[in-house]
Amino acid sequence: MPANYSRKLLTSKVALNYTLLKESLEYAEEAEMTVTANPNKALWEKGDFTRVAETMRASGEALVARLGITPGLKVLDLGCGDGTTALPEARLGADVLGVDIAGNLVAAGTRRAEAEGLTNCRFQEGDASHLDDLADDTFDLVVSIFGAMFAPRPFDVAKEMVRVTRPGGRIVMGNWIPGDPTLVAQLLKISGSYSPPPPEGFISPVTWGVEENVIERFGQAGITADQISFSRETYTFEHPAPPTELLAVFRDYYGPTMNAFAAAEADGRTEQLHKELADLFTSQNTSSIAGSTAVPATFLQVTVNV
Ligand SMILES: C[S@@+](CC[C@H](N)C(=O)[O-])C[C@H]1O[C@@H](n2cnc3c(N)ncnc32)[C@H](O)[C@@H]1O
Repeated sequence: MPANYSRKLLTSKVALNYTLLKESLEYAEEAEMTVTANPNKALWEKGDFTRVAETMRASGEALVARLGITPGLKVLDLGCGDGTTALPEARLGADVLGVDIAGNLVAAGTRRAEAEGLTNCRFQEGDASHLDDLADDTFDLVVSIFGAMFAPRPFDVAKEMVRVTRPGGRIVMGNWIPGDPTLVAQLLKISGSYSPPPPEGFISPVTWGVEENVIERFGQAGITADQISFSRETYTFEHPAPPTELLAVFRDYYGPTMNAFAAAEADGRTEQLHKELADLFTSQNTSSIAGSTAVPATFLQVTVNV
């Protein structure tokens, strides 16, 4: 196949994906129902986030250790992936339900919990924008680390998180911060600059990393500003190989980066994107062990006292 023909084919595939995304979102909103081809679900099922999550386990465990979890606490881990925080919550004795839009990650979490014999850790599919299966006032603690921030309709997400938390309970979110100089904000920014413009009305996930937005979204769910507190925390991505190998994990398995590489390929800019990201991963590597990678990334931790 001639190179410019295959490039055109890729370009039209990318354009078609965005048209489908826009149309299905509009349809879902009009019909107030879930469409079968949910683009948000497709994005996260496309890659294999477990490969990225393996580089985040130690930070997940450290975060959970700070949450004051006690045996029997009813915890919802929303946008749980394959259980990076859900499993440590269950190890501390909490009664954990992990909910995620991606069927492959729900299956992976279930396998991981079974392998550890954690009978107090279940996983099921669900959408943070409408947690239809979950009753009001069910959980003592709702945790969402880089999870619910990726769901569409952030005001609905805030409302749903508050609805399923019991009065006196807590919500803890971890959200990447727009414009932050560390890894993930920069990765999302660079990836976005190679991708076609998002559909009209699209709200960037990193808007959850701005305190005013968080206050406004929870405000509409009946939470006052004095019930919300913020801190800046760090997650460290660890990989026993050089930084470019960690980049390869993101390129091959992380939906947003996979999409950027597909769009860059359509534009003949793959090498440029690869170089920009390789510079980013290499310059942010703090590991003192040769051939190993540790990249810290700052996030906004949000705590809501319901
Ligand atoms: C960056 S991953 C983080 C996963 C996990 N919390 C962790 O710390 O490893 C984002 C997760 O959010 C999930 N997600 C995206 N949109 C969602 C939605 N609308 N409802 C529930 N989960 C969603 C994805 O499937 C993915 O597992």
